[in-house]
Amino acid sequence: MTHAPQHAIQVVAHRGASEDAPEHTLAAYKKAIEDGADALECDVRLTADGHLVCVHDRRVNRTSNGRGAVSALELADLAALDFGSWKTRDAWRGRDEEPDWEHLPEDPAETAVLTLERLLELVADSGRRVELAIETKHPTRWAGQVEERLLHLLKRFGLDAPRSAADSPVRIMSFSARSLHRVRAGAPTLPTVYLMQFVSPRLRDGRLPAGVRIAGPSMRIVRSHPAYVERLKRAGHQVHVWTVNEPGDVDLCVELGVDAIITNRPGAVLERLGR
Ligand code: G3P
Ligand code: CA
Repeated sequence: MTHAPQHAIQVVAHRGASEDAPEHTLAAYKKAIEDGADALECDVRLTADGHLVCVHDRRVNRTSNGRGAVSALELADLAALDFGSWKTRDAWRGRDEEPDWEHLPEDPAETAVLTLERLLELVADSGRRVELAIETKHPTRWAGQVEERLLHLLKRFGLDAPRSAADSPVRIMSFSARSLHRVRAGAPTLPTVYLMQFVSPRLRDGRLPAGVRIAGPSMRIVRSHPAYVERLKRAGHQVHVWTVNEPGDVDLCVELGVDAIITNRPGAVLERLGR
């Protein structure tokens, strides 16, 4: 059964198709593109030698066979690590039957650390429009360097100055209003998304930090305060919800008229939406 919405909802692959393949790897992003995702979400951090890499946690301990903070490691150190095997171990854990190994690639290049540059190349070569939702992590530690490097890289790909926010295939997301402000200062037409884990009292009426047009509430906020989505929409904002994996949550997002669903399971969500 499908739950087709009245309006177009963008399906965004959270860390790639991260249920099927190890998050933030080429394998996960290739699978998301293959599944038909409209956009790819990725978290970016700076390495000790100034490269932007797609890693969620401050440390590499959970998602690789290495240890240490991304910011203390150089790209060459990260390139020597395996960012895929943890998923294999996790896939086995607690299951009675052998999991579907189809998307756990043998080629180590598919599960090596992924630079943002390589991800931009993948998108450019995908042969169709695939948007990117890039989240800046640890923006305070580097005092503007994450945003500076990010805009520099986007400029190289001709993605830093879209004619308008609506035209842009790239948007920048953050829990930090300061980080988004830095992005807009350097690239005024690039759309920005203010991520929220909870709704601060001064934003309860549906306002967002100055200059931000897109709200990124968690699914937990949406479930517990569905009226907040209506308030955001009445205030003229788009609403991009994360992380939406359960069919019932997809249905609620459809009912509330959200604009984007950020999910670890892009294939399943597209199917639920009748696409
Ligand atoms: O897409 C937004 C979402 O990714 C924010 O949470 O912790 O998964 O980066 P997190
Ligand atoms: Ca993220």
